[in-house]
Amino acid sequence: MATLDACEARMDFPIFRQEASTLPLTYLDSAATSQRPEVVLRAIDRFYREANANVHRGVYALSEAATALYEGARARVAQFIGAASAREVIFVRNTTEGINLVAWTWGKTNIRSGDRIILTELEHHSNLIPWQLLAAEKGAILDFVPIADDGCLDLEEFDRLLAKHPKLVAFTHVSNVLGTINPVREMVRHAHAAGALVLIDGAQSVPHMPVDVVALDCDFLTFSGHKMCGPMGIGILYGKQALLEAMPPFLGGGDMIREVGLHGATWNDLPWKFEAGTPDAGGATGLRAAVDYLAALDMEAVHQHEVTLVTHLMAELRELPYVTIYGPAAGQERAGVVSFNVGEIHAHDVASILDRRNVAIRAGHHCGQPLMRRLGTSATARASLYLYSTEEDIVRFLDAIREAATIFHL
Ligand SMILES: Cc1ncc(COP(=O)(O)O)c(C=O)c1O
Repeated sequence: MATLDACEARMDFPIFRQEASTLPLTYLDSAATSQRPEVVLRAIDRFYREANANVHRGVYALSEAATALYEGARARVAQFIGAASAREVIFVRNTTEGINLVAWTWGKTNIRSGDRIILTELEHHSNLIPWQLLAAEKGAILDFVPIADDGCLDLEEFDRLLAKHPKLVAFTHVSNVLGTINPVREMVRHAHAAGALVLIDGAQSVPHMPVDVVALDCDFLTFSGHKMCGPMGIGILYGKQALLEAMPPFLGGGDMIREVGLHGATWNDLPWKFEAGTPDAGGATGLRAAVDYLAALDMEAVHQHEVTLVTHLMAELRELPYVTIYGPAAGQERAGVVSFNVGEIHAHDVASILDRRNVAIRAGHHCGQPLMRRLGTSATARASLYLYSTEEDIVRFLDAIREAATIFHL
């Protein structure tokens, strides 16, 4: 199996090569957004320098070149996630937009008063609010799979909720707060057996581990380019072709139509039916470069690197008596995300003290307010790892945590 040399990979990222700061950057906020390697920055730059034109419209060479880059990116993403066809891959802005697209197209036509949708207590607000809005409009019922105290889903309760015949189950593959890796294959199987469709929020899984939509058999999967070395503003919604064909369009405008009259229109084929207006072709080109970069590193190697590093980080954190760690024990079912608190110090103060050492972590509710309530806290500090995170990062992080504890006399 391929292994990852994170110190070598780190050199691919210009942000880690900056000389201005006397302190090296310890970036432990990749769950919020990743850094981008040189190859991605160059691909975006090259698009605008050498191939910039609007896609799908021009009959001249430059527009055809831009279109080829845009559609080539789609085909590459389809291959990366194992989709049967590039038609099943829709460019959106981010995970949030992908979920909203499903809620406002599939949801509007399929959800009626009294219908049930299952979510979980682990969800990011992105996979909660669109369903709350839909449920309020349609009179639908949201059910929630609870978590046990170790941060893992209660799968027996999941089965009990499935017995109420939900129309849809939507859940995150990996928790952005607790690092829990959910048993998605098994959950999809149970949901399908109960007659429900499944949407997977892949924001924290697709960037970090191999994900194959055919093997998972999910109906929808959505993720963001900016969390996987790609640019901000481009993301993906995967959907099974038959479902996407049956769904009405999301946004209306140019490119998503076939024939337009003053009082009506017909829709373009997949995937363009869901891509109204000028798309982010430069972003798609950057995302393609990111996918090529990740694939060359090997996604299983990326995952194993993070498992090794997070196991070490958690073991060291546990040595500090004033630190509370949330979520499951380290292991293969634990991603490189660690939420914690340091004594009674507010998470924002912890993050500010770490920042003095150029250690960047996130603090707050992480867009998971219901989960914070379940954990009995208003906020946590969160360190999250990626392929360029190293043992040195962990050492600098731990030193800064000890300093915070000293400042607060813990
Ligand atoms: C699990 C999860 N879902 C959804 C999102 C939303 O992603 P975006 O802001 O790129 O739409 C995030 C972002 O942190 C996330 O971690």
